[in-house]
Amino acid sequence: MSLTRIAIVNITGYIGAEVARLLCRHPNVKIVSVTGRSEAGKRLGNVMPHLSQIDLTIEAAPGEADLVFSALPHKASAEAIIPLVGKGIKVIDLSADFRLKQAEQYQQWYDHAHPAPGLLEKAVYGIPELHRADVTKAQLVANPGCYPTGAILALAPAVKAGIIKRDIIVDSKSGVSGAGRTPSLTTHFPEVNENVSAYSMDGHRHLPEIVQELQALQPKETLMITFQPHLIPMTRGILSSCYASLVEGKIAVSRQGVAELRQVYRDFYEGETFVKVVDAPPQTKQAWGSNLCLIHPTIDLRTGRLIVISCIDNLIKGGAGQAIQNMNLMLGFPETTGLEALPVYP
Ligand SMILES: NC(=O)c1ccc[n+]([C@@H]2O[C@H](COP(=O)([O-])OP(=O)(O)OC[C@H]3O[C@@H](n4cnc5c(N)ncnc54)[C@H](OP(=O)(O)O)[C@@H]3O)[C@@H](O)[C@H]2O)c1
Repeated sequence: MSLTRIAIVNITGYIGAEVARLLCRHPNVKIVSVTGRSEAGKRLGNVMPHLSQIDLTIEAAPGEADLVFSALPHKASAEAIIPLVGKGIKVIDLSADFRLKQAEQYQQWYDHAHPAPGLLEKAVYGIPELHRADVTKAQLVANPGCYPTGAILALAPAVKAGIIKRDIIVDSKSGVSGAGRTPSLTTHFPEVNENVSAYSMDGHRHLPEIVQELQALQPKETLMITFQPHLIPMTRGILSSCYASLVEGKIAVSRQGVAELRQVYRDFYEGETFVKVVDAPPQTKQAWGSNLCLIHPTIDLRTGRLIVISCIDNLIKGGAGQAIQNMNLMLGFPETTGLEALPVYP
């Protein structure tokens, strides 16, 4: 059987490197080209020793491939992708450049006009659990952000079922790899270690994605979502705590109601390999190194409020793993291929 040729644009970042690491074990594809602006001309194994079994030299531009992953920062990613899409090549963009459907939101949230608004409609927002049929047919997949993946999966069943009121709070904590490999004072070890901080209190760039996807599940009412990210001293993982008041008369505020709520979630995710509804609050280490999203919905019986905790590995289900899940769908492979690894413990 011939292997599908894969190119990874920007192997020198955390996400590009993670796509490569996971694809090394994929039986149906072969990485044929990797790029990296600052390391072009060097052997991949010298730049990223953990990837030395991939026998390639880093290039300045991607070589010929059947499917391209772009793990560039936003704006640079769109510039690299637009010509590839024009040539009919399948592309999975891990940046934010094709996630939002309304072009004007790029000016508002990313400080630049979108370079190809016509492609926004063509791009499929790649959460397979919500958009599997569209991903399967897509040429261009916009892989979701890490925070939005955890938040959307945590809230989608409740929003869709109409059991919560429109005021929703998503409080998320992320490990430092979420900020990427480029060093900065904020991510410097003495600043992060033994420290927890809130940031982007005027509105984080991932908010419009969360709103876009949840609003589409409940178009009758305008959702009011507060999303507050925090940085915590760990390498990988995102834990999101989500809160909303229950609509009266739908789910009882009782132990029986908690069981009904959990059934709503189990029904929503029935048959999903990577989303697990769990009976105890999950911890980031339970998803670490895997493509899992662990979700624990419950009710605060004193206030009648829904509480949902979700955990993902930001680099896998929040990035590279979900991108490979999308790739499998786009190429007609079993969705779980290459993503079977269990979480790493301890
Ligand atoms: N980190 C996560 O958890 C996560 C999760 C989901 C999605 N994402 C998205 O995935 C993409 C990559 O994220 P990352 O965390 O891997 O980033 P990263 O580790 O910070 O990678 C950034 C690298 O991109 C290269 N770069 C920067 N500007 C460039 C430009 N204009 N043209 C070409 N290369 C440029 C630089 O490498 P050189 O010095 O070699 O040029 C830089 O080291 C981003 O769009 C990010 O939003 C990240």
